[in-house]
Amino acid sequence: MKRHPMIRRFSTLFTSLFMATVANAQKSSPGPVFRLDGGNATYAFGVNERGDLQTLYWGGRIGSQDAIPPAHSFPEWASFDSTNTTTPQEYSGWGAGLFTEPALKITFADGTRDLALRFVNATPDGTQATDVLLKDISRDIFVTLHYSMDAETGILGRSAKIVNREKLPVMIEQMAAAQWTLPPARYTLSYLTGRWAGEWTLNQGLIRPGARIIESRRGTTGHQANPWFAISRDTSQNPGGIPTAPEESGEVWFGALAWSGSWRFTIDETQFDFVRMTGGFNPFDFGYKLNPGESLESPVFYGGYSNHGLGGASRLLHRFEIAHILPQAPNPRPRPVIYNSWEATEFNVSEAAQIALAEKAASIGVDRFVMDDGWFGQRKDDHAGLGDWYVNPQKFPNGLKPVIDKVHSLGMDFGLWVEPEMVNPDSDLYRKHPEWVLNFPGRPRTEQRNQLVLNLARPDVKQYIEGFLNKLLSENDIAFLKWDYNRNWSEPGWDHLPPDEQKKIYVEFIRNLYAILADLRKKHPKVEIESCSGGGGRVDLGILRYTDEVWPSDNTDPFDRLSMQDGFTYAYTPQVMMAWVTDSPHWLNSRSTTLAYRMLSSMQGSLGIGANLNNWTPEEFATAKRLIAAYHAVQRTIAQGDLYRLISPRNGSEFSSTETVSRDKSQAVVFAFTHSTQQGRGFPLLQLQGLDPNAEYTLTWIEGTARAGTPDRASGAWWMNHGIDLDLRGDFVAAAFRLDQRR
Ligand code: DGJ
Repeated sequence: MKRHPMIRRFSTLFTSLFMATVANAQKSSPGPVFRLDGGNATYAFGVNERGDLQTLYWGGRIGSQDAIPPAHSFPEWASFDSTNTTTPQEYSGWGAGLFTEPALKITFADGTRDLALRFVNATPDGTQATDVLLKDISRDIFVTLHYSMDAETGILGRSAKIVNREKLPVMIEQMAAAQWTLPPARYTLSYLTGRWAGEWTLNQGLIRPGARIIESRRGTTGHQANPWFAISRDTSQNPGGIPTAPEESGEVWFGALAWSGSWRFTIDETQFDFVRMTGGFNPFDFGYKLNPGESLESPVFYGGYSNHGLGGASRLLHRFEIAHILPQAPNPRPRPVIYNSWEATEFNVSEAAQIALAEKAASIGVDRFVMDDGWFGQRKDDHAGLGDWYVNPQKFPNGLKPVIDKVHSLGMDFGLWVEPEMVNPDSDLYRKHPEWVLNFPGRPRTEQRNQLVLNLARPDVKQYIEGFLNKLLSENDIAFLKWDYNRNWSEPGWDHLPPDEQKKIYVEFIRNLYAILADLRKKHPKVEIESCSGGGGRVDLGILRYTDEVWPSDNTDPFDRLSMQDGFTYAYTPQVMMAWVTDSPHWLNSRSTTLAYRMLSSMQGSLGIGANLNNWTPEEFATAKRLIAAYHAVQRTIAQGDLYRLISPRNGSEFSSTETVSRDKSQAVVFAFTHSTQQGRGFPLLQLQGLDPNAEYTLTWIEGTARAGTPDRASGAWWMNHGIDLDLRGDFVAAAFRLDQRR
């Protein structure tokens, strides 16, 4: 008998007694099978004889004529684990003896806490998108599961919508966007964690029995962990040894949640050795009351599959983000090279000082001049002003116009910093509307950076923020907003709602944020937006639908940035990864580096300059000008090409290197960095990847020189097989070159 792969793998791990029961179960009649194909992936699920929606297959694409065997529920395990627990379901309700992580948990008005979802119908039954309707066995709770498969990358978007058609309200206590199941095997989990100025650390470890929770309880995406995961099939033959997650080979399943509020991933190796990933709204402190007729839609949880290792997985995600997520998808323009004034002037902005910086920025080829914090209200430092979005008359007696006009006359466009969701207690806004902030009446309001969070879930707050942003953008010729968000939530109360509705804030705040961003983009289609949250605290596929770029970290140390950028690119495309060149020695680590090293580090992403140009030497201006010109010439390849992380900078690596190949393989750009040369060891041979082996490529140095004997041109096969030997030695030195196909 030919069995479905999941059952086949399952069978190897279970006793014959168990399998005998499986065989019996297969005698009853199951329901339809649904299959979605895209890129190199197939995803399949089916309705078993109980009516559960059961996961059947997720992996490499299978032949279009191949049949997926129908779903059969798994039997109970002795008297302790019911079928509901043993059967991997697509979206499990908590009830009927479920001991794995549920997707949905609700309490009915009569106190019943039992939900058993069964298949009703599916529309349409296509290969790219399907909606599947489930319903509780007796109550009028309906769940629609949306599936949408991207034909090119095979990335599947999944989300859920719950509708209450009962006569009384229900309380949703836990709601995932999706659950994903992998069959028993040895797997390595990769995930990203961090803190302020230390974001994007890639963590890897073997998945073991039990659950691992990766989450944010902060009301926002957070620096602490990012809503992305990858699971590599670990085929190493050392069961007790170090987990492996190869960069360019092997099977990888990955996912990212499009949500900018509190979120949670539970990665569970069940007692039956399946791996289950459940992700969506964070159930911690969650409670969403659904009145009769109301519905709640989850965020979208995207999942994909690659058989080219973590590198293949991130290349798929990058393509998908560029083609389907970003506001300018499918053809986002490469980011303008920006100058940002923050590290040069901090809050001390003024017309004259900004114009002086703008003139210098224009002279090196910057495209966009961004004035950061300090221009509004009574903002002298971080104690006052947030909430009062009028131009500070002492600093800008003639408004913003003279600065903007000057920036335009220098051939750049103009961007401005805002932090719309925040208020300082020392502001006119707070004095007028103290009730507008997140708070629990009668309890202290915890300040961080001397600020409180406005309750954006409130319609009046939403209206205020929309109002001032529209006014700002209508009255000034602004091409870009840097949208900051410098603290996380505390006392998340919404006191003008009844107590059993107040926790809706976890959803409504974020929905209103998205609504404001969508409305702004509609009304001001030329304005581009950056998501910043004290660095990388709000980077996710939800905010990236509305923002063109993100600020990965306030840590601009060029060496730290190498490993942060490495971590970042596992989940997000370099197209959105802003990277500024700032001053040396660096304020955080006191590390001194050359300007060329700093420039090359930032050129791995979307380049910006954030140094105090007033202190630069003529030589530094010349270096920056030369490298910005070189960057402009290859920027689309770097930002939107296929990224190969050739040598990882992680774990104290002496060396690191990346290569990006344009989608048509006509160009490749390579960066190489040292931390320190030790014991005379030379830079490792770089064998390039992803080139056309039969095409000829010409070598041009952006920074650095070739070792004697390196050809000026050679075939793709030569660069990939023979490789290039760099003459790179010393501490914190860098090189970059491009290869261009001769046509
Ligand atoms: C935090 C941001 O990450 C910085 O770049 C800068 O904009 C400051 N906020 C301004 O307050």
